[in-house]
Amino acid sequence: MGAASLFRQAIARQLAPIAGCSEHHVLRSLAPMPKVSSGQQFGIPGPKLGSVEDPKAWCQQLAEKFETSTFIPRATAAGTFLHFDVCPEAYIQQTLSDVWTQKSRYGMQEQETPKTVVLDYSSPNIAKPFHAGHLRSTIIGNFVKRIHEAMGYKAIGINYLGDWGKQYGLLAVGYERYGNEAALEKDPIHHLYDVYVRINKENDADVDALANAYFKRMEEGDPITLKQWRRFRDLSIASYAEVYRRLGITFDRYSGESEAEPYIPRVYEELRDRVVRQEDGAWIVDSTVLRRADGTSLYMTRDLASVLLRRQDYAFDKAVYIIGNEQENYLKTLFGLTRHLQGCDRLDMTHVGFGRIHGMSTRKGTVVFLQDILDTAQQQMLKNMQASQDKYRELMEEGICVDGRHLAGQEAVAHVADRLGTSAVIVQDLVAKRGKNYTFAWDRMTAARGYTGVYLQFTHARMCSIERKSQVPIQMDCDLSQLKEKEAFDLALTISQYPDIVQSAYQTLEPCTVVQYLFRLSHSIGQANSSLRVKDVDPRVAEARMLLFWAAKTTLANGLKLIGVDPLERM
Ligand code: ARG
Repeated sequence: MGAASLFRQAIARQLAPIAGCSEHHVLRSLAPMPKVSSGQQFGIPGPKLGSVEDPKAWCQQLAEKFETSTFIPRATAAGTFLHFDVCPEAYIQQTLSDVWTQKSRYGMQEQETPKTVVLDYSSPNIAKPFHAGHLRSTIIGNFVKRIHEAMGYKAIGINYLGDWGKQYGLLAVGYERYGNEAALEKDPIHHLYDVYVRINKENDADVDALANAYFKRMEEGDPITLKQWRRFRDLSIASYAEVYRRLGITFDRYSGESEAEPYIPRVYEELRDRVVRQEDGAWIVDSTVLRRADGTSLYMTRDLASVLLRRQDYAFDKAVYIIGNEQENYLKTLFGLTRHLQGCDRLDMTHVGFGRIHGMSTRKGTVVFLQDILDTAQQQMLKNMQASQDKYRELMEEGICVDGRHLAGQEAVAHVADRLGTSAVIVQDLVAKRGKNYTFAWDRMTAARGYTGVYLQFTHARMCSIERKSQVPIQMDCDLSQLKEKEAFDLALTISQYPDIVQSAYQTLEPCTVVQYLFRLSHSIGQANSSLRVKDVDPRVAEARMLLFWAAKTTLANGLKLIGVDPLERM
């Protein structure tokens, strides 16, 4: 349990019996009050503890009855509020020792027998462009996976590719007409996109029938169509993988609609009693078509089959689908139908939705390739980096360490620029409630100040640089009574809130809870850093401050990793 919880519980344990309510009830409303001038208090509104006629007098009474201790040395009534002082030294001590013992696991929890969660995210279609919705699913999905891991789950990340179905048949028909082997080899994503655009222009009944027929051949196991399909799929995955690598995202499985194919007969079998057969031969369950008249499957059928596949391979307890808000009804139907499958009636199935991105288009067309976005962000960051010459030169000369490899010169610069660019894209996507729409804004996103990924990275790199340059030893065994300033306590207080933040972000699956916290933490670090020097001060003071900064940096790094941003040691 973290420092914040320990102190809150100590207050609650004392307060509950004298207020005549449960500890749990007290805990719900007891919050730190970082804005008060002493900066060392927790507070609770008196009326939350029960309705009385004269809340002021009641708060007064409670404050008097409250037995103080070394940890909670004072209880005061302030109007209809009750305030509790915490002993700053003890609080700081507890907080820093929490971070010290847990390090990169600070904020995380363990489960005795870890539950398994499968996460379905990113999931682009090989026959259609990767669009803004896929970008959001990728970024938010990665966060949702990591927060489950932080809560002790065994998390399985699945990229459920749209690699099957009539839509793919349409692309294949297009390729028969407009395909070019050389162009495909060179740049599969762009070429398949060109083919996609051209065949969609001709989307008449003729082409539609051809696409259906093509897909039917695939479902019947025709080797020629399947060979071609395998190739398109492999090429597409290879180019996606490169973009995922840049974003620091990995999947446990590149699955897809095609993999569900062998489980489709079982879906039909298990739902047989519920099927209504239409006149033309199509099968319907709960007013959803699950089998076309010609015997082919639909998107929904394959999603149901995938549940069976995932049950079989992972025996999961929980499944999370990270898909745009516009598919909410579709998922409701999917979850409803899933309950009819054997052993699936109690599965925990969750939809994590999100809003749209506006303005993510090029001058020419409406589609933006993710790779181009990351390139542009990288270029922009490079320009900004070149503007601060000293730091730029230092980076070129000293280089950086990446996965145990030392990069220097242009290589180091390119790496840092790319990381900053992706941080900017990720943070912009996660900064507000996920359900909201937002407008893609280059300038705002890459700015060094304000609510940006660059600012968070800057703060982290700054802390690393102080560690490198000061040479002050970092150890738990130091005199923390040297941390007397308000800024020091405020920073420790912010650090101590991290485990609760992770917990509440897990409950709502809202990444902005973590991102907003990281801005507060960075702000608090900035304030402490400008008033608490470590150079040219008494070594005992320097050591205590350095430990505090180290704990802040560690917490910031943990939070950055949680949102999918790789913290930079230099920039
Ligand atoms: N490929 C789909 C699309 O691009 C998203 C798939 C989402 N996952 C799922 N299990 N249906 O819209």
